[in-house]
Amino acid sequence: MIKLSKRLEVVASYINDNVKLVDIGCDHGLLDIYLAKNRKNITIIASDINENALNNAIFNIKKYKLENIINYRISNGLDNILKEEIDTIVISGMGAHTIVGILYKNMKKLEYVKDIIIQSNNNIDFLRYKVTKLGYYIKDEKLVKDADIIYTVICFTKGRKYYSKKKLYFGPVLLNNKDDLFKEKYTNELEKLKILYKLIPKDHYHHRFKTYMKIRMYKSINL
Ligand SMILES: C[S@@+](CC[C@H](N)C(=O)[O-])C[C@H]1O[C@@H](n2cnc3c(N)ncnc32)[C@H](O)[C@@H]1O
Repeated sequence: MIKLSKRLEVVASYINDNVKLVDIGCDHGLLDIYLAKNRKNITIIASDINENALNNAIFNIKKYKLENIINYRISNGLDNILKEEIDTIVISGMGAHTIVGILYKNMKKLEYVKDIIIQSNNNIDFLRYKVTKLGYYIKDEKLVKDADIIYTVICFTKGRKYYSKKKLYFGPVLLNNKDDLFKEKYTNELEKLKILYKLIPKDHYHHRFKTYMKIRMYKSINL
């Protein structure tokens, strides 16, 4: 039986039965094998830009005899995926700029895509902003701690909603829930910002001002 990491468990929790999924950057393919075994009526394209990574996935898919459910393909993002083949996208374990680049490069292929599940660790506010601009809103999001790292997983779904700068930064759902992991993550970040502020030379006005404003934003959410 496939055992996912806590991080991938949360990613998997957003993927339903009856979907046509592409996993962009599948690497080992473990998420796809787990989904093939645990979801009804699912079709999956496991894709990766890297041949060695995809070969690992192919090895695992064959080991579990899941070739009838999981198709595999070398692809840079959505380049080699047809829009008719997918209604759900998962992109996990990549930087926000790479993810946004992948979605914007082939935005026409999002025509039938209802849900986009993303796990990225940096520039999450930028990611939220850019994906919502593509015509998706944040249906749900969760923080998960795995091997001492706190990851953010977001489920975007088709539709439009307005988000303030603060909501894009902290996450509209996360901010609403403010659970213990949220408090831990943003309290740590606030402490780091305060240290940074003290270290910025007095004549670096712009950097000091930006850091000061960020500290104010953190303080405003009453951690
Ligand atoms: C850190 S691994 C993450 C693997 C898995 N998704 C996870 O969350 O555990 C990132 C994978 O993304 C692949 N990748 C990076 N850029 C890509 C792109 N533009 N298109 C497809 N795959 C890409 C890499 O080759 C690598 O296998």
